[in-house]
Amino acid sequence: MARERTFVLLKPDAVQRALVGAIVERFERRGLKLVAMKTTKVSRELAETYYLEHKGKPFFAALVKYITSAPSVAIVLEGDEAVAVVRKMMGKTNAAEAEPGTIRGDFGIQIGRNLIHGSDSVPTAKREIGLFFAPAELLDYARVDEAWVYE
Ligand code: RTP
Ligand code: MG
Repeated sequence: MARERTFVLLKPDAVQRALVGAIVERFERRGLKLVAMKTTKVSRELAETYYLEHKGKPFFAALVKYITSAPSVAIVLEGDEAVAVVRKMMGKTNAAEAEPGTIRGDFGIQIGRNLIHGSDSVPTAKREIGLFFAPAELLDYARVDEAWVYE
């Protein structure tokens, strides 16, 4: 079991729909530790770097417009297998197909308004954390319930 850090972006629809608290609550209750969190408006430059892998795809322009349209919340979470655990909690990319009980399956209904991004691997997480946070913003501390979340 590897302790990992992952990057999460609560996209503008999550902020506008006042779902930030409900989503963060799920991560906290799961046992994931908040390492960093801030409200930020993603710039066009950052969006194009962040979504480089999608450049040239038909939805790229709409994706950049969506992500830069209003503030987002950037989060770093830490926990055992955090990358996979968060992806599972998010549900399928297309919210219409996401299982009930997942974030997208409970709060979303379209792929283009799917509320949340989560890193797809540890190397991706490192890259994305570096795009959004300075090293000093990532806090090292113990949660008092750690001995009860982990054996
Ligand atoms: P994310 O990167 O946001 O965590 O989502 P993901 O890995 O599940 O999905 P990915 O394939 O990386 O796509 C990134 C984001 O692009 C938007 N998208 N729109 N209209 C479309 O066909 C389409 N396909 C992807 C979604 O916002 C998706 O989360
Ligand atoms: Mg992705």
